[in-house]
Amino acid sequence: MTLRIALVGAGSVARRHVGVLHRLGGARVVSVTDPHEPAAEALATELGAAAFHDPEQALDAVAADAVYVCVPPFAHGPGERAALRRGLPLFVEKPVGLGLDVAEQIGAMVEAAGVVTGTGYHWRCLDTAGRARELLAESPPLLANGYWLDKRPPVPWWGWTERSGGQVVEQLTHVLDMARYLLGEAVEVYAAGIRKAPDGAPQDFGDVDDATAATVRFDSGAVATLAATSALAAKHRAALHTVSRGLYLELSEDGLTAFAAERTDHCPGEDPRVTVDREFLEAVRGEREATRAPYGEALRTHRLACAIAESARSGVPVRPGGTG
Ligand SMILES: NC(=O)c1ccc[n+]([C@@H]2O[C@H](COP(=O)([O-])OP(=O)(O)OC[C@H]3O[C@@H](n4cnc5c(N)ncnc54)[C@H](O)[C@@H]3O)[C@@H](O)[C@H]2O)c1
Repeated sequence: MTLRIALVGAGSVARRHVGVLHRLGGARVVSVTDPHEPAAEALATELGAAAFHDPEQALDAVAADAVYVCVPPFAHGPGERAALRRGLPLFVEKPVGLGLDVAEQIGAMVEAAGVVTGTGYHWRCLDTAGRARELLAESPPLLANGYWLDKRPPVPWWGWTERSGGQVVEQLTHVLDMARYLLGEAVEVYAAGIRKAPDGAPQDFGDVDDATAATVRFDSGAVATLAATSALAAKHRAALHTVSRGLYLELSEDGLTAFAAERTDHCPGEDPRVTVDREFLEAVRGEREATRAPYGEALRTHRLACAIAESARSGVPVRPGGTG
């Protein structure tokens, strides 16, 4: 059965998913919704789909089996609500919101609807992440060090806190998700940030911090330092390292290296950006029970990101929402 996909958001990550769905087969995009009409029209025309500017209209006009929401952080809510009101399976790109209000509301709707969900936290689909978790089950982590060292993404909304949420919410969130996956829930965070616009920065340079450093304590007692910067000229690295007694792990999208008595290198088997879509389609078809990055997990990671952002803003320690 070919699944009919309604796409909300017609930007670069939406196009990436379209490419993956095309390669995988078994799904076709039937509608494209984007308030920026040229973007919606262009992608819809390429795909032989219908273009809309409102997700409710799109889902009323063209029947769909699942909805992909690929919008910037500030634009979450309408696409998810339109899908969930109709009981449709839902894939949401990360982060699942700007702050917590909309994301918590959608999280409650997801619970009530009981639909299949997937999210863009594709690091969870790395077989190397699974291997790291197995190794850490034998030798629990005491310390982690994670980082996202990058340039500013060239999208107009990214530099503004009220549009993107800042780099911790937008990018470091992948590493935070891995930290939760490997170390458990965070119970307290403290963070600080710096913003220093370069001389001659354009008026629209924005207001997000250029660098953030956080310390995090997990419910196991493990501690972590997590850092992000967008001040570089190109993406340098993003990774999570862990320290257990006698074991050091380095995990990135490119691979896992384990240092024990000897060094072992593991390479990912499949591109996780493909796996994340494949597993969502399988779950929608009932071929698997759930995805590896369902909405509830993404929401818990987003709570941690928001706690770090809030601590950097306020200068005081914060307990991530939902940990009591
Ligand atoms: N998982 C990943 O690896 C990954 C990679 C890239 C981007 N992303 C995430 O995807 C999101 C989008 O990023 P992007 O690079 O595609 O941005 P983009 O700016 O290229 O595209 C966003 C699109 O959303 C549209 N949009 C804005 N408000 C909308 C609304 N209310 N309804 C529908 N469409 C709306 C915009 O007009 C634009 O066409 C970001 O949150 C980003 O972090 C994830």
